[in-house]
Amino acid sequence: MTDRRSRTKPWGGRFRERTDPAVERFTASVHFDRALARHDIRGSIAHARMLGRTGLVPADDVAALVSGLETIESEIERGEFPFDPALEDIHMNIEARLGQLVGPAAGRLHTGRSRNDQVATDLALFLRETSTAARRGLVELRQVLLERATEHLDTVLPGYTHLQRAQPVRLAHHWLAFVEMLGRDADRLGDLRARLAACPLGSGALAGSTLPLDCEDTARGLGFDAPAANSMDAVASRDGALEFLAAVAICMVHLSRLAEELVIWSSAEFGFVELADAFSTGSSLMPQKKNPDVPELVRGKAGRAVGNLVTLLTVVKGLPLTYNRDLQEDKEPVFDSARTLRECLEVTAGAMATLRVDTERMRQAADDSLLLATDLAEALVREGVPFREAHDAVGRTVAHCAEKDVDLRSLTREDLAAFHPSFPADAAELLDLERSLEARGGPGGTSRAAVSAALDRVRAALDAEATALDAEEAALDVGNES
Ligand code: ARG
Repeated sequence: MTDRRSRTKPWGGRFRERTDPAVERFTASVHFDRALARHDIRGSIAHARMLGRTGLVPADDVAALVSGLETIESEIERGEFPFDPALEDIHMNIEARLGQLVGPAAGRLHTGRSRNDQVATDLALFLRETSTAARRGLVELRQVLLERATEHLDTVLPGYTHLQRAQPVRLAHHWLAFVEMLGRDADRLGDLRARLAACPLGSGALAGSTLPLDCEDTARGLGFDAPAANSMDAVASRDGALEFLAAVAICMVHLSRLAEELVIWSSAEFGFVELADAFSTGSSLMPQKKNPDVPELVRGKAGRAVGNLVTLLTVVKGLPLTYNRDLQEDKEPVFDSARTLRECLEVTAGAMATLRVDTERMRQAADDSLLLATDLAEALVREGVPFREAHDAVGRTVAHCAEKDVDLRSLTREDLAAFHPSFPADAAELLDLERSLEARGGPGGTSRAAVSAALDRVRAALDAEATALDAEEAALDVGNES
């Protein structure tokens, strides 16, 4: 009788039949979780060294394990690693290859470990690295926005509410609004570090190990603050991944708003900006077309980032403790969001760096006296008129101008007096674009001085953030070597 037991699976001893090929395909994850290979190897090396230090594995076996794992890492880097879907996931692929490379010593690596604490550790290491990379991308995009804002300190355009012209602003002020949003996104990704501080290794399948493991040692070796406080939580929870997906979704929503403005501003109707040829595409049918596909795709990809968050929230919702195979579904959303954000940050930075701005067209759009109607009401307030009364008087003035088809600015002080006796000057004097911008000098305001100060503040903060990131990236690299 032929032995139908699985020869590939490490749990073969318990099984009499081979896994059905459809099940093999269905449960396999190595085609995506190979993205964790480096982190898995790092985790295994730290675990092997700990096993050596505690005397659970003899020193020469530890040396063989570490050198075998290093060989595997370089095989993967060179694209020569024989990935086998029959071995399910990246963890078993690496362990099986280790067996081929170092022989029976490989069987000691999984001492006191389960794939449950192993995969939770890998994912935490991945999230730490990928959120740092995303923050680097966010620094770079904000640096581009800062440069473009600095260049356009004196470019004036209408600020909008309800996509209706509202009040004039400096283009620098407008783009600095995105710098603020993206700064909070970077903070959110940085905050994640505090929730990835506990090392799951040592939690085993769910209840730890009877062996005298030194979890402090592995935690330290991998750059965590401490071992996990609760072994069941450590293998069951995915809120680090959820928080990452939430931070990415919010950031992508911010990018989609910037993208949307590039799309509408580059339309003939607005004509405020033109995307560089290198960041536009043509139409296969209409020879005259230059399309904003890049910002459109950024806008569209925000949908996947939101979807990835909802996917994992839904996977985790209602799961009983502890590990359930459902949790294997955590990886694709995380990898997809990480890649999506990286690519979107890169192309948005490129599009913004090369964007041509039609400053004349922006000024014409802003040079509409109606945009200063609020200033007119505030001129009355300065004369002691209650704001609601002033608002009503200016409203009637504006309606009169629309009816008679005259420019608000052409009204003399006598004309204005018909709507309210307290107007202090003629409309032309009260409705000056520059003066209006300059009058808003408070923090966060539109005056030249206020916006210049904001540019300086952002520049200093970004420099500091870039330096702090250099140090964090260096620490990640050191972790990768130890
Ligand atoms: N590939 C699995 C995952 O990503 C690894 C853990 C499997 N553990 C288990 N008990 N089946 O979740």
